[in-house]
Amino acid sequence: MVKYRAMADEFASMREEVARLCAARGEPPPPTFRLPIEFHRPGEVAVVCRVAGEAAAASLTSVRGPFATCRFLYVLEAHRSEGLPRTLVGRTLGLVRSAAPKLPVLATFEWLRGEPPPGIASALEQAGFVRRDQAVLWRRLAAPFPERAPPPGYVLKPLADEHIEQAAQVMLAAPEPGAFAWTLDTCRVALERAAEPETPRFPAGRAQGLFAADGTLAAFAAADATGFVQLVFAHPAHRGRGLASAALGAVLRALREEGREETGISVVASNEAAATLYSSLGFEERRRYAQFFLEGPFS
Ligand SMILES: CC(C)(COP(=O)(O)OP(=O)(O)OC[C@H]1O[C@@H](n2cnc3c(N)ncnc32)[C@H](O)[C@@H]1OP(=O)(O)O)[C@@H](O)C(=O)NCCC(=O)NCCS
Repeated sequence: MVKYRAMADEFASMREEVARLCAARGEPPPPTFRLPIEFHRPGEVAVVCRVAGEAAAASLTSVRGPFATCRFLYVLEAHRSEGLPRTLVGRTLGLVRSAAPKLPVLATFEWLRGEPPPGIASALEQAGFVRRDQAVLWRRLAAPFPERAPPPGYVLKPLADEHIEQAAQVMLAAPEPGAFAWTLDTCRVALERAAEPETPRFPAGRAQGLFAADGTLAAFAAADATGFVQLVFAHPAHRGRGLASAALGAVLRALREEGREETGISVVASNEAAATLYSSLGFEERRRYAQFFLEGPFS
């Protein structure tokens, strides 16, 4: 009989149990076990499925703003063909729904290393999740990069707090191919996440915009406080003129001036325009990971 409990408190002890059971069965522990995970933050949804009293499957999902991100999902190998993956996915989504009845609009399950086990991948697909792969690219900031001046008619400026709403509008008009359908709300949340909590929201030139002659924001790039580039967008009416390249180049310079050695960026692997742009600025792919996403609203 399968029982599940939804208590973040229980997750830590379950984690140890799963590690012990993996060792007893000669299975490697799930790679995510080595990642630091905080268990007691508000908005964490933890699910533990037990078979005959023993932990056999577990998930941990954070629900913040309009997004739910499952950061850990594991089913012991011996139970992968018993319908347990489906139970786990179903219970997890059920709890995400009750944790945030109106939102989230998006739930993602990620495998940061390796392929998801087949039973789990098919359970996610049966629940309506769509797979896409993300590529993670890096570049050393000491290595030279092309200095691209803004094209005529455009002005390059660091993004100030009052430009954030315009930046959300650029994102809304320029969805990333292969990504989920964005709303103005999810664009704002993505910007909020990349920004500092207090003003100035993008200090030290970490976000740069290209403005047209009438003051409209045409393209921008933004890195977060860790120096990871989070957002690169050009409005469709202004593409192919080197704007994204100029904005990202300016962000890279700002990161280098801050004393950082490296920067990274994560992109949907099938996004050829972005991949070409990043490789033209010296980014190299370091790894890929699988992501399954489901668009809401779920209520
Ligand atoms: C990707 C994107 C930001 C490029 O903006 P852009 O201002 O048109 O890009 P640039 O003009 O600066 O292009 C610089 C280089 O990128 C490459 N590139 C840009 N668009 C491309 C396309 N459609 N196909 C292939 N390569 C492309 C080219 O190598 C180009 O160099 P070139 O001008 O010497 O040919 C824009 O298409 C966009 O906003 N897409 C949707 C959002 C997105 O996918 N963002 C990235 C992930 S967050």
